Amino acid sequence: MGLFDDILHADETLFKNPVALDFDYIPKRIPFRENEQRIIVNNIKPLFLKRNGRNVFIYGSPGIGKTVAVKKVLEELEEKTDEIVPIYVNCWQKNTSYKIFLEICNQLDYKFTHNKNSEELFGVIKKILNQKAAVFVFDEIDRAEDVDFLYSLLEEIYLKVIILITNFQETIANFDSRIKSRLLPEIVEFKPYSLRETFEILRERAEYAFYPGVISDEILQKIAEIAYKVKDVRTGLFLMRESGNFAEARSSRRIEVVDFKKAAEKLSEFSIKSKESLSEDEKLIFEIIKEMPESKIGDLYKEYVKRGGKGVYKTFQRKINKLEKNNFITVDKIEGGKEGKTSIIKANEVDKKLTDFR
Ligand SMILES: Nc1ncnc2c1ncn2[C@@H]1O[C@H](COP(=O)(O)OP(=O)(O)OP(=O)(O)O)[C@@H](O)[C@H]1O
Ligand SMILES: [Mg+2]
Repeated sequence: MGLFDDILHADETLFKNPVALDFDYIPKRIPFRENEQRIIVNNIKPLFLKRNGRNVFIYGSPGIGKTVAVKKVLEELEEKTDEIVPIYVNCWQKNTSYKIFLEICNQLDYKFTHNKNSEELFGVIKKILNQKAAVFVFDEIDRAEDVDFLYSLLEEIYLKVIILITNFQETIANFDSRIKSRLLPEIVEFKPYSLRETFEILRERAEYAFYPGVISDEILQKIAEIAYKVKDVRTGLFLMRESGNFAEARSSRRIEVVDFKKAAEKLSEFSIKSKESLSEDEKLIFEIIKEMPESKIGDLYKEYVKRGGKGVYKTFQRKINKLEKNNFITVDKIEGGKEGKTSIIKANEVDKKLTDFR
């Protein structure tokens, strides 16, 4: 090999298909979720016989394949039959019954939605879907501001399966009893992947994303170890992309440990930015949590007010939930003591974990 053979030319890239590292990319295979997918499919199967299916409630922590596993099921369902209509709605983006009905109309290619209210839109949906069967997926269901739409679908669409996805097991307990007693879903917990599974998933993604030889198993193993520790495949995808960018910036044909290290340094910045960047108020809360490890939520709130925090307690609690959902902190609910139930809050040590790997 010549001394300069390792140099990347200006018009070359390490990325065969950079899209494969996008968080919403759907790979051909979804390994290690076959059991969960099988349960979902079994609940959909009766629809093929024009019998009602069973609803499914899916929960599990962020970045462990809930969305991608379910989207894959819908994709295959769509290929298999025209008689069962798949509908997917993200309730973070469409967070009211009206917006959800409007979105379903759009997915059904119904164009005359203008000036129609919720009830009229639902009338259209009912008319179209009651000629067939439907599988509805409502992802991030905990973000929906009202769930009246669920009641309408449960009551008035005859052949259907409703699949709900959330990070929180409690979401379902908070539904009102009218909905709970009609939904009666099979509950499916998605558990985090093992280290080996995390490695395999990332290796498959690397094969789609990079040209052969760009990323070694040694680097992939380092990336997988971090993604495994934080229990989030997205972290691994981020590290692959950033490592690739750093290697490219050095005009190297291969990702080396230095590139991985630089990418890992960017990770705490990434987690701060994950999903939505934190507001000033949320940053203040996170700072306080880091300074007062293992404190009770009430004490943290007092400190927050002392430092000029303006939110009322309810808002504060909501922000704590958001920090938890995005993996910044861990909340332990404890019983007992004279105060009854309380929550103990801990900052997640993403930075410290990373230095362990350097
Ligand atoms: N088994 C798997 N095979 C291939 N890719 C996977 C697998 N599990 C997760 N991923 C990838 O990891 C990323 C995160 O997965 P996904 O979006 O499904 O997470 P999620 O569980 O829905 O998280 P959240 O609760 O934050 O929405 C996606 O890019 C997804 O493609
Ligand atoms: Mg998801």
